[in-house]
Amino acid sequence: MAEIAVLGHGVVGSGVLEVLLTHKDSIAKRAKEEIHVKRILDLREFPQLPYNGLFTKDFQEILDDPEIKIVVEVMGGLEPAFSYTKACLEKGKSVVTSNKELVAQKGAELLALAQKNNLNFLFEASVGGGIPIIRPISQCLAANEVTEIAGILNGTTNFILTKMIREGMVFADALHLAQQLGYAERDPSADVEGVDACRKICILASLAYGTHVYPDSVHTEGITAITKEDVGYASAWGGVIKLIGEAKMLENGRLHILVSPMFISRESQLANVDDVFNGILVRGDATGDVVFYGKGAGKLPTASAVVADVIDCVRHLRSNRKILYWEDAKPDYVEPWDVTPQDVFVRVTGEGDSDSLFDRAQQVFPKAVRLIRRDEEPGEAGFTLPQIAEEELREKEPDLEKQGLRLANRVRIADF
Ligand code: HSE
Repeated sequence: MAEIAVLGHGVVGSGVLEVLLTHKDSIAKRAKEEIHVKRILDLREFPQLPYNGLFTKDFQEILDDPEIKIVVEVMGGLEPAFSYTKACLEKGKSVVTSNKELVAQKGAELLALAQKNNLNFLFEASVGGGIPIIRPISQCLAANEVTEIAGILNGTTNFILTKMIREGMVFADALHLAQQLGYAERDPSADVEGVDACRKICILASLAYGTHVYPDSVHTEGITAITKEDVGYASAWGGVIKLIGEAKMLENGRLHILVSPMFISRESQLANVDDVFNGILVRGDATGDVVFYGKGAGKLPTASAVVADVIDCVRHLRSNRKILYWEDAKPDYVEPWDVTPQDVFVRVTGEGDSDSLFDRAQQVFPKAVRLIRRDEEPGEAGFTLPQIAEEELREKEPDLEKQGLRLANRVRIADF
C-alpha cells in the first residue's frame, strides 16, 4: 500500500480524489500496489464528503508522517506551495504538482533537490492539463533536436479569440461570456495578459533545451489589444489570430522566446485549435512537426495527469526517474525579443480613405503588402511587412506620424 497526501482540495485536488477512488482497481494494477490517500490538507471544512475524516489543517502532520512517501501539491500559487514542496523533498517525500507557477519559478531548484535526495518531482499536469506533453518532450522526442515549440497554451484566451473570430464579438463581450460559462476567472488578468501562457512556455523551453527560463525574462503580450479589425485583417490575409507561446533555439545559441498574439495561416495545424482547447506543436529535426491537442484545463483532465504522475512515483519510490532535469538559468541566454526579424501585420489609422493611408504608409515601408478586410472603414489601413524586428518598427513610428498615421496595432505572423 502506498500512502499519499494531497495538499489542496480545490478543483484539481477534488478531481484527484475522484480519479483515485473511481479507478482504484485499475490504478492499483498499474502502480503494482494500492494507492491510499492518508491525509488531505485544506483550511476549509468539507463535512458532506464521505472522506471528510482525512482532512487536516496542519501541514506539519503530513510532513512528520513517515508512512506518507508521496505528496500531491495542487494548491496553486507560489507560497506556501514552494515551502511545502521543498520541505517534502528535504524530508524524503516525492512530490507531484499541477502548479505551473511553482515549476516555472522554482523548477531548477526543486528538480536538483529531488535528484540529490533520490526522489521524484513530477509535473505533467502543469502544462496542457490532460495533454501529455512533458514526458513526450523529455522522453519520446529525446532523439531529436527540438528546433521550435509553439503552443496555444491558454484555454480562456483561446475561447475569447474563437468568439471574436467566429461570431465577430468584441474582446470585452467575449471575455464576459467566458466568465459566464466558467471558462474565465473573476480576475482573468493572468490569462488575458499572457502570464499563464508565459509560465507554460517557460516550462516547455526549460525542459526542451535543458536551461531554466524564468517568466520575467520573457516578453509577454496578451490579447487585450486585439480588435475586431485585427481579426478581420487576419481573415483577409488567410488566417486567424491565436495567442501563441513560442520558443526557438537560435543559431547563436540563444533562446528566442515570447508570448504574443500571432496571425496563423489557415493551413497551420494550430489554426483549428478552437474554444477552450490547447494545441502544442513541437518541431523536431528528425520527426518534423508533432502536434499535441486536447483539454488544457479542467478538473478531470488535469487530475488524470496528476494521478498518472503519482502512479509513476509509486513505481519508482526509491529512485529518481532522471527523465526531468534542467540546469539553472544562464546569463544572456534569452535573446532580446525585439531584435529578431519576423513577418508582421501592421494596422494604421489616420485622416483620409484607406487607399490614401496605405499610399502614405508605403512611403515609410516600401515593402508593405496591403490587406483589405471586409467592412473596411475610411481612416484605417492594414498591411504586412516582411522580416522586420520590433526595434526597427518602433524606430519608424515617428516617420509614420509625419505621414499623419498612427500605428494602431501590430501582430506577428507565425512561420508554422
Ligand atoms: N486558466 C488556464 C487556462 C487554466 O485557461 O488555460 C489552465 O492553466
